[in-house]
Amino acid sequence: MSIKKAIFPAAGLGTRFLPATKSSPKEMLPLVDKPMIQYVVEEAVSSGIEHITIITGRGKRAIEDFFDISFELEHELEKRGKHNILKQMQLIPNMANICYIRQKEPLGLGHAILIAKDLIGNEPFAVLLGDDIIDAEVPCLKQMIDIYNRYKCSVIAVQKVDDDISKYGVIQPRYLEKNIYQVLDMVEKPRPDEAPSNLAIIGRYILTPELFDILKNIKKDRTGEIQLTNGLKELVKRQAIYACEFTGKRYDAGSKIGFLQATVEFALKSQDVGKEFAQYLAGLQLTTPNKKKNKKSIQNPE
Ligand code: G1P
Repeated sequence: MSIKKAIFPAAGLGTRFLPATKSSPKEMLPLVDKPMIQYVVEEAVSSGIEHITIITGRGKRAIEDFFDISFELEHELEKRGKHNILKQMQLIPNMANICYIRQKEPLGLGHAILIAKDLIGNEPFAVLLGDDIIDAEVPCLKQMIDIYNRYKCSVIAVQKVDDDISKYGVIQPRYLEKNIYQVLDMVEKPRPDEAPSNLAIIGRYILTPELFDILKNIKKDRTGEIQLTNGLKELVKRQAIYACEFTGKRYDAGSKIGFLQATVEFALKSQDVGKEFAQYLAGLQLTTPNKKKNKKSIQNPE
């Protein structure tokens, strides 16, 4: 069975971006001129996904409006003869068949996936986390679907991480072939000395429907959440899970620094402003407080 359905958990509060996210969803923060969620939907659609279920929560209506038709805007753009941007606006509501489910309580990623069970049914599906923006020649999800099509088992995306391993789920891998590992076990956010490897789970998953039954019975962790990683730990005891060390650059756009890195690099690639922005950056005198200190100590050696 091919992978046609995907779940996008988007119910999080986005506290790291407050106050910007006080009254608008984190998923709608723009990277240059597109909201973050559009990049991830585009990745899914160009990987062959046709049906998307977005898990929302309170204060997330702007996401629904974004993927809807805006008659007034389209009418106005038509009237003003702005045909190019009008065409772009008309593509957005037709990208995929999108449904929404509200996650009424913040019960974690595992719970967000579980509430989409009825819309997914008994077939393998993808999960994409909107904080992870991946710039790749072949979309990351497509790389994973190619592995799914060969092995017909769950596939999770991983990347080697040198710092901050404790921010991720981490796999215990067995090397299979270039960029593919079998997952023997995994740990959610381990202490650095307890991490089973440096292969961190990145927010792209292809999962078999057996996971739903497991998630139903998973206990909440000490923060009161149902962790997806705990569900996967159980799934791997019953069936194979492979890990795909994808090719591409991943930005942690859920953190301020990752968001800024993505903004700068996407702006540099933009056809619209890239050249001008590069010139602007080249003209900046980049100094940090630390560097200034070093300079001083070179000028005035003890
Ligand atoms: C989630 C997962 C974690 C994964 C990470 C990737 O954590 O629980 O296993 O490594 O996404 O971004 P979160 O960042 O939501 O805390």
